[in-house]
Amino acid sequence: MEITVVGTGYVGLVTGVCFAEVGYNVTCFDIDEKKIRSLSGGQCPIYEPGLESMLQKNLEAGRLHFTADVQTAYKNADYIFVAVGTPENEDGSANLEYLEAAIADIRAHLVQEAIIVIKSTVPVGTNQRIAGLLKKQIPKGLKVDVVSNPEFLREGSGILDTFHADRIVIGAGDRESGGKVARIYEPFGLPVLQTDVRSAELIKYASNAFLATKISFINEVANLCEHTGANIEDVAKGMGMDQRIGSQFLKAGIGYGGSCFPKDTKALEKLTQYYQYDFKILRSVIEVNSRQKQQLFVKAKEMLGPLKGKRAAVLGTAFKPHTDDIREAPAMELIAQLLGEGADMSVYDPAAMKKVEEIYGSRLYYAENVDAAVKGADVTFIMTEWPQITGYDVKRFKLFMRRPVIFDGRNCYDLQMAEKAGLTYISVGRKPVSANHQEDSLESGTVVQD
Ligand SMILES: NC(=O)c1ccc[n+]([C@@H]2O[C@H](COP(=O)([O-])OP(=O)(O)OC[C@H]3O[C@@H](n4cnc5c(N)ncnc54)[C@H](O)[C@@H]3O)[C@@H](O)[C@H]2O)c1
Repeated sequence: MEITVVGTGYVGLVTGVCFAEVGYNVTCFDIDEKKIRSLSGGQCPIYEPGLESMLQKNLEAGRLHFTADVQTAYKNADYIFVAVGTPENEDGSANLEYLEAAIADIRAHLVQEAIIVIKSTVPVGTNQRIAGLLKKQIPKGLKVDVVSNPEFLREGSGILDTFHADRIVIGAGDRESGGKVARIYEPFGLPVLQTDVRSAELIKYASNAFLATKISFINEVANLCEHTGANIEDVAKGMGMDQRIGSQFLKAGIGYGGSCFPKDTKALEKLTQYYQYDFKILRSVIEVNSRQKQQLFVKAKEMLGPLKGKRAAVLGTAFKPHTDDIREAPAMELIAQLLGEGADMSVYDPAAMKKVEEIYGSRLYYAENVDAAVKGADVTFIMTEWPQITGYDVKRFKLFMRRPVIFDGRNCYDLQMAEKAGLTYISVGRKPVSANHQEDSLESGTVVQD
């Protein structure tokens, strides 16, 4: 049995490598020749823990192949897993041009029966539309089916998530095709949910929208904490101990980013508009998040005034730790704003700095560690909770910064430690700490004193 995986991004590459790891013969195809060259040489173009060694192991075992040649990719494939990007169009809808291009290639080069499995996140109805297109245009008598198999892995733990996924969702119009795809997953020993195609497509969007809702909800509660003097860490802990609520995704912060939640919530909203359904919660979730992403910048401006000529350090540029993905990262929005203000900037991220440099070149100073990033800074913004940042000795901020003013969008440090270290420390949903211990004066009169 031959498996082809189309697209070697965060999803396609992890999927291809993990399929090879359980013993399948896998060909990964991408139109990006540079990526394919590096992958064929055993080098992983993305940062994903454990991926490069597993890739090399399976290349050496001869189970994993990479190609940029479309004919090689499709000619022997029994199963074609499509994992190309579905980014956001300007109007918020899902951009399906990569998917459509991949389907056109498949149509042109398919010479044998195959099942096409769509892993890319696509709006409800897309799989059926693709199946219709394929059936019209492939040679008569060739049986080709389209099965939806949305992906739920998280960047930064892609391999772990693939081997220990909570569920595999398979949406198929034809039970036999759905069953065949389910059998591919048997070596992983995971729970499989088989549904119709449209339900599978919606499970993916609804899941991401629900997780985004939890984040926006807790961020709203954090903002309320700042008004009322409650502490979000304690509030979230107390809420999360209720098993009906659960403790995951109750971490207040600077808002969600990344390549999935922002675009998927907007694409779902677009879909609801198409069906003329007013999904009120979803609209609020998106609105709350875009406001939350502004929080630190607004607070810093309020406290520090014009930032022109001030030295600002940004710690963490990836949208979350353990990935180099900066798509829609709150830090990227902040960097643009700070540069717009005329701040003089240094950045540090353990994995994503190359990607930031591709965008900003010499406009930023790229520090090799936290010490170097915060050296001489008037203000530091913490945007990603990498261990290198959460584990940083807070006393060093005072040692290296010109003025030890920290805006922490990820609540990395204990308030007492920050106070002891003599920092001015503003976090999310917690009492501000002032270097001269006049905490409440920083809150512009919003604290209700007992
Ligand atoms: N990144 C995640 O954490 C994640 C998680 C779950 C689901 N998803 C979904 O999976 C899909 C892929 O996401 P990603 O983050 O892996 O994307 P990505 O942008 O990292 O990678 C997409 C890859 O597809 C390649 N490509 C584009 N057009 C192609 C074509 N016609 N033929 C072959 N290759 C082509 C690109 O060159 C690129 O390497 C998206 O729909 C996304 O929403 C992503």
